Amino acid sequence: MRVIVCENYDEVSKKAAQIVASEVVLNPKAVLGLATGSTPVGMYKILAEMNKNGEIDFSSIKSFNLDEYYPMSADNDQSYRYFMNENLFNHINIDIKNTHVLDGLAEDPEKECADYDKMIEEAGGIDIQVLGIGQNGHIAFNEPDSFLYANTHITDLTESTINANSRFFEKIEDVPTKALTMGIASILKARRIIILATGASKKAITKELIEGEISTNNPASMLKVHKDVILICDKEAYGE
Ligand code: F6R
Repeated sequence: MRVIVCENYDEVSKKAAQIVASEVVLNPKAVLGLATGSTPVGMYKILAEMNKNGEIDFSSIKSFNLDEYYPMSADNDQSYRYFMNENLFNHINIDIKNTHVLDGLAEDPEKECADYDKMIEEAGGIDIQVLGIGQNGHIAFNEPDSFLYANTHITDLTESTINANSRFFEKIEDVPTKALTMGIASILKARRIIILATGASKKAITKELIEGEISTNNPASMLKVHKDVILICDKEAYGE
């Protein structure tokens, strides 16, 4: 794993945007794996600006998001589909039909998950996957456990994740307790992965990711088996 330590959040956003932009420039038909959460918001802003300035073109780009709450309707302002439209898709020239987010209202969630993996495969696989990291080491919604799922699946959220995500909801009872999420193997199939970690709340898990052993109790540690992973973090997350 390569580690890029930046001065602050803005610099992390810029570095991450430059890396994603370079993929788009090199391959105008690239398949992007995208994440929600607070961390990539700055990166999305910069990508939207670069698109507006004519530096990058998303017209033939496809995207697949990591996860979606379940049950959750796409037009709910807490859905990850809504988040992506608001933070990126509405501001770039991507064809919305080429953007994929798991259906949080799927009647048959298992089928939805299996179809999603198939769609990614049929698109040629993910060229670059953007990840954030949970304070408990989760990537997408693969939560620490004695067992991790390989493929896209439905999962229960842990108390730590429900607490962390409650900041986006009026009250904690409103946070969904389940989600559809890409699995560890779905993520590891991406040709390149960038994982972003910023702020003091990510300090302990960033240290664990860099120094710790591979363990299902820290799902992000699974990334250590991948040959092209770049951790981009700020000084607060990196620590001393
Ligand atoms: C989001 C996702 C989550 C977040 C993680 C960090 O699609 O899959 O794993 O990346 O919870 O969230 P933030 O960036 O809000 O700290």
